[in-house]
Amino acid sequence: MNLTSYLNAIEEADVYKRYGKVQRVVGIMIESVGPAANIGEVCYIHSAMNMNKKPVLAEVVGFHDEKVILMPYNEVTEIGPGCLVESTGKPLTVKVGRGLIGMVIDSLGKPLDQSALPKGLSNFLTEQAPPNPMSRPTISDPIQVGVKAIDSMLTVGRGQRIGLFAGSGVGKSTLLGMIARNSKADINVIALIGERGREVREFIEKDLGPEGLEKSIVVVATSDQPALMRIKGAYTATAISEYFRDLGYQVNLMMDSVTRVAMAQREVGLATGEPPTTKGYTPSVFSILPKLLERTGTNSHGAITAFYTVLVDGDDMNEPIADTVRGILDGHFVMDRKLAEQGQYPAINILKSISRVMNQVVTPEHLELAQQTRSLLAKYEDNKELIQIGAYKRGTDHEIDKAILYYPKIQQFLKQSVDERLTFEETFEKLKLLLNGGS
Ligand SMILES: Nc1ncnc2c1ncn2[C@@H]1O[C@H](COP(=O)(O)OP(=O)(O)OP(=O)(O)O)[C@@H](O)[C@H]1O
Ligand SMILES: [Mg+2]
Repeated sequence: MNLTSYLNAIEEADVYKRYGKVQRVVGIMIESVGPAANIGEVCYIHSAMNMNKKPVLAEVVGFHDEKVILMPYNEVTEIGPGCLVESTGKPLTVKVGRGLIGMVIDSLGKPLDQSALPKGLSNFLTEQAPPNPMSRPTISDPIQVGVKAIDSMLTVGRGQRIGLFAGSGVGKSTLLGMIARNSKADINVIALIGERGREVREFIEKDLGPEGLEKSIVVVATSDQPALMRIKGAYTATAISEYFRDLGYQVNLMMDSVTRVAMAQREVGLATGEPPTTKGYTPSVFSILPKLLERTGTNSHGAITAFYTVLVDGDDMNEPIADTVRGILDGHFVMDRKLAEQGQYPAINILKSISRVMNQVVTPEHLELAQQTRSLLAKYEDNKELIQIGAYKRGTDHEIDKAILYYPKIQQFLKQSVDERLTFEETFEKLKLLLNGGS
């Protein structure tokens, strides 16, 4: 019998328990003297009154004058001076496996409906390093998203990371639901961060539907949860995607919204004493974003195609989070309130959006057709005011005449109702027909 692995396990096992004592509670932070722990380590805080009570789970977020600063994952009331703090010696892990598919869980990986987790799951660290840039295969295949406007004009590559920039109520959740149901990915991991409780249920029942949930894992951290839980929701969803990528799955990760993750990090940053910089965001916000967003994409086993929604107030694309995220990702789709108001759904403004890998993943014929459509749209938009007030006389410019002729057909082609489904090939055929005089 080979005993080496057992002996190694004994050697590596930490047989000491490290304890500390709570000294002070300031707002959402708990200060304790000891235990010896590293940043990111999970600790149990035992109630001083009642040792049989379930301990509170907290994470080490900083140090101050040799004291440990802890932040609990959940709201706490029964914590006071002298409470025992026990270090687990490990950062946060969640249980992952095929059994999770179809479930709705919280940031710590527990089912939201309080049911028991299925058997056979493995422990997986929520914080992982991004894949080595040298071992990342380049993106070369398109992936069907099942939304006409995207598959035709803004084709997404397998393993691409995209930002969906939109204000409130312009159709983000509906679009993510359509992608989850229609795309060719093997599994969807959907992180709902900072939403209201009502919206979560609406998304799962209405936008995703039973058919979408069947091949999805939904991670939920609502707006009323502590900031740390909202941040962990993003990490947990990313870790679950990584687990399935390593098994060779094609994964879709959707995070709604990355702005709310940044806001939660700002809360934690300010509470631990970081200085506020642009728009009150603390430096750590700008350091965690690239680390989080770089984890998705391709690695040598599989690919995570990721969609991150970014909230833009009043369509201000230069807001610090929007600006940072746009710089990290491989494409941005802009959703426009004007289009939504006209009933032009999905409200994607094609001219303002870009898929940076489209050139690499589609055929030259497809690229050519998409470019022609784009220039017709641009020509119309450039002259829109003249055309609409009737100041443009037909026949003056051949190109503008053509744009006027095609504009309504293109708009009609880009429109898609919530339950309309098309394959990538069907969309391409429609695009061909559109420019060859059909509709
Ligand atoms: N493809 C579509 N076809 C028809 N209507 C749509 C479509 N997409 C969105 N809508 C309409 O837009 C409304 C808002 O959509 P949705 O809830 O997806 O927006 P949101 O951006 O997620 O909003 P919030 O910022 O509140 O989360 C929907 O209730 C629906 O009426
Ligand atoms: Mg929404």
